[in-house]
Amino acid sequence: MSVRFNGKHLAKFIRPEEYTTLYPQVELAHKQLAEKTGAGNDFLGWLDLPETYDKEEFGRIKAAAEKIKADSDVLLVAGIGGSYLGARAVIEAIAGQYHNELDGGVKIYFCGNTISPSAMNDIIGLVKGKRFSINVISKSGTTTETALAFRVLRKLLEEAVGPEEANKRIYATTDRAKGTLKQLADAQGWPTFVVPDDVGGRYSVLTAVGLLPIACAGIDIDALMQGAADARKAYGTLAPDNDAYRYAMTRAILYRKGKRVETLACFEPDFLMMNEWFKQLYGESEGKDQKGLMPTSCIFSTDLHSMGQYIQDGSRIMFETFVDVKQPRQDLFIDPIDGNFDGLNFLSGQNMSIVNRKAMEGTILAHTDGGVPLGIIEVDKLDAYNVGVLLYFFWKACAVSGYLLGVNPFDQPGVESYKKNMFALMGKPGYEDRKAELEAKLNG
Ligand code: PA5
Repeated sequence: MSVRFNGKHLAKFIRPEEYTTLYPQVELAHKQLAEKTGAGNDFLGWLDLPETYDKEEFGRIKAAAEKIKADSDVLLVAGIGGSYLGARAVIEAIAGQYHNELDGGVKIYFCGNTISPSAMNDIIGLVKGKRFSINVISKSGTTTETALAFRVLRKLLEEAVGPEEANKRIYATTDRAKGTLKQLADAQGWPTFVVPDDVGGRYSVLTAVGLLPIACAGIDIDALMQGAADARKAYGTLAPDNDAYRYAMTRAILYRKGKRVETLACFEPDFLMMNEWFKQLYGESEGKDQKGLMPTSCIFSTDLHSMGQYIQDGSRIMFETFVDVKQPRQDLFIDPIDGNFDGLNFLSGQNMSIVNRKAMEGTILAHTDGGVPLGIIEVDKLDAYNVGVLLYFFWKACAVSGYLLGVNPFDQPGVESYKKNMFALMGKPGYEDRKAELEAKLNG
């Protein structure tokens, strides 16, 4: 498979029999997932999605993307959390961080993922005088950040092109039948796409949630789905050498040995938003009941000049998972320079990817010598197919890892706490008692 878990540098931290001892629990988790009998079993739609996805809707997504590419300079995507991270992660992993500036296609900006007025004003500035469309994404239809941004964007669009044309340029991705966004979309005649009931936000990038923005970025969504479909088969096998299960077991063993933090690190900046997607996936799935590894991330070698000191020498609470991208999106030949004024001619006469690889190898040895257990997820390259494989790899490993931890990996009850406080403090009707209580705490 094009995504593999390489545990060779873990040998001095984990004995082979530790995997053997844990394996029966993996067998149980595998069975619970396959038979849909474990915790959160009503949110397992992602398991078979790469095969069972709605082909009719898939065709409509492609058609909508073609229309947006033809009639818009900019697509504004409003959504947060699971309704945001996956699409941006996949686009940047495949097309690069600067795809908006470099590729000449429709520019894609994400918003509705913050309540910052500065960020909102920047988005307004970005579409001034441009032809734009909006994709509002919210499963619940009531998420404050997204709804607040959308009311601004919709007004902006209606003012720019009139209500009738605006209705043809607003695409709503939401629940199949319920929720305010669905009702509004139906009333206005906006094209709608579905977030399936049994697919949670952090497992939703291969639904319309991710696929419409990804297709607008010019990425081959057939190849993306094919990668996920092939991964479903490969990581669906119950075997000790299933790479997703070996990664899940590694996390569980290190957690049980006292590690509390996992750092996902990649030497490709294009992976920055995949890191963010990973943190949501594992943080929301496992961080509950006062348990779970805290997912953190780095882009190296950038962060070797910031977090590198801590990882090498600080508290031994963490382990690292490196994502080793075997083939970069582009390479660059290093020419020698006359005079060798910077002393770097010893690096010349070869591709920059070789230097990056040596930096990675040097880091692996330094960190493991420093007492940091380190596993490697190898991926051939960050193209649509392989990113599809990688998404599914992380999902399957996360589900098993959550079951090994003894939590429900498919809910996120903790996310509600800040929302309730914010509503109370803003005076939302129905929250009066809580408002008084919170204000007393703030002012006390
Ligand atoms: O993973 C999740 O469920 C969350 O991150 C949600 O995706 C996020 O809160 C956005 O919710 P909604 O799509 O209902 O607006």
